[in-house]
Amino acid sequence: MTAGGVEVVAHQLLILLALTLLLPLLLLRLASSRSSSTSCRRRRGSNCNDNDGDKQQQQLFLPPSPPGRLPILGHLHLVGSLPHASLRDLAAEHGHGGLMLLHLGAVPSLVASSPRAAEAVLRTHDHVLASRPTSRISDGLVYGSSGIAFSPYGHHWRQARKLVTTHLLALKKVHSYRCARRQEVRLVIGKIREAAAAGMAVDMSSAMNTFANDIISHAVSGKFFRAEGRNKLFRELVETNSNLFGGFNLEECFPLLVDWLGFLGRWFRLGNNTAVEAHHKRWDELLETVVRDRERRNSIHSHGRAGDFTDVLLSVYQEYGITRDYVKAILMDMFAAGTDTSSLVLEFAMAELMRNPQRRTKLQDEVRKSTPEGQEMVEEENLGSMPYLRAVVKETLRLHPPAPLLIPHLSMADCVVHGYSIPSGTRVIVNAWAIGRDPGSWEKPVEFMPERFMDGGSAAGVDFRGNHFRFLPFGAGRRICPGINFGVATVEIMLANLMYCFDWQLPVGIEEKDVDMTEVYGLTMHPKETLMLVPKLRRQRATLHAG
Ligand code: HEM
Repeated sequence: MTAGGVEVVAHQLLILLALTLLLPLLLLRLASSRSSSTSCRRRRGSNCNDNDGDKQQQQLFLPPSPPGRLPILGHLHLVGSLPHASLRDLAAEHGHGGLMLLHLGAVPSLVASSPRAAEAVLRTHDHVLASRPTSRISDGLVYGSSGIAFSPYGHHWRQARKLVTTHLLALKKVHSYRCARRQEVRLVIGKIREAAAAGMAVDMSSAMNTFANDIISHAVSGKFFRAEGRNKLFRELVETNSNLFGGFNLEECFPLLVDWLGFLGRWFRLGNNTAVEAHHKRWDELLETVVRDRERRNSIHSHGRAGDFTDVLLSVYQEYGITRDYVKAILMDMFAAGTDTSSLVLEFAMAELMRNPQRRTKLQDEVRKSTPEGQEMVEEENLGSMPYLRAVVKETLRLHPPAPLLIPHLSMADCVVHGYSIPSGTRVIVNAWAIGRDPGSWEKPVEFMPERFMDGGSAAGVDFRGNHFRFLPFGAGRRICPGINFGVATVEIMLANLMYCFDWQLPVGIEEKDVDMTEVYGLTMHPKETLMLVPKLRRQRATLHAG
């Protein structure tokens, strides 16, 4: 057996041992918490805390939970391989007003599955529910859960977020990356053109993922980001991040158990958290190279070329009172949050358009009519006259939000949501996917119908900036995605060009109805099957010069 094999078995043995030791304790704990919560429920209107008559909220009920909670597992066994779908079904049956309490392993989790519940969580009680649960993975990988996405609510998060929204992702700044986007779109179009000339199918999943990654790499480390295969390394690292963070893993559901196992692992010198540590080391080496490289160049050209993310971060981070490690954590966040999300929107948009040829033609007509005759590519200034393009992007985000359950929030204090008591330390999950398909909010909710977002449509005027709680692909409130402008700009210009430069066909033998929309759940939600499409060069178009 290899050393790695021994380690895996040792870990499994430790888990077994721990579960055996913990079982009686957990059963005792469960019995005591059940009896206290039952007595609390029975004594509705009387105070649950015998010692403190002032705590009004303890007189209240906890949100409803599905029956069948098991020792240790809690409700985990009720959650299938597509958690967003399982949570929607459980909430429909056992929730009330879109709220439901689940115990996912050892973690109490409030699930919000209706626009009203989402508004309560992300607007009314946002000030209490805007923290994040941290884990050993986010601690080990993202410099002690610094950065933004996994950082607990507080001064540091506020400073880092302010820095990013002011200096990296503000609309004006996103505008200034126009040239980078143009170059990257041009490269993709050039490659697809080669495939079209050879009559070959294109792997759209891979093409869009590479594109989104290259856009971020370009924005982070300037025009030399391809040097030494950096963009490929970034892509590989982002992919491993998704695998480490993805899904409802042991770490998320049994944090104390995993902490305890980690402690035992260290005690027995079994090597602990090695995958995360090794992965962090690779990220750190790459980010350190990018940062050092930039510091060296900036000291030579001291008149300041404040351009890409790294330049900007290095010029202002001290002013915001953050450390060099935090700079690297922020850069990592940009990759992790910005790559998969944008590429998945493009991939799902193309899949939906292939299943809906009339809508594809409608979009193509709009894009081609709105782009001046003879222009080789769609430019960003042409996008203003493409309302249907924007409607297609919105409809894709409604049906396929890349982060279907957003990123979990955490309550920082006890609070009362719609009359239910939510204890401090409860994880909060917003099911944006279910809300986007809620039949009470959307006409023909599972149909791909961009027209709903057009003038006169049933959702005209509904936007994704956190004002409409039936449409939350970017979240809402304090934790709303700060990358909306960047992400939407990336998606719109690429999709417009895919429509402008090519006609699209499915590979021989595949019909529209066969385009597989099955999803695989992770930190982001991916299509199960790779999307292969055959591009055809559009006739009478100007020649593209790659470069
Ligand atoms: C279409 C593309 C994108 C989608 C659908 C998307 C979606 C989301 C969602 C759902 C969240 C969690 C909100 C919550 O927890 O309430 C989030 C957070 C975040 N996103 Fe995006 N995102 C996209 C693109 C980007 C881009 C391009 C960047 C940066 C370059 C970015 C940076 C972030 C960051 C830093 C956070 C964490 C915010 C915080 O915790 O305060 N996102 N995004």
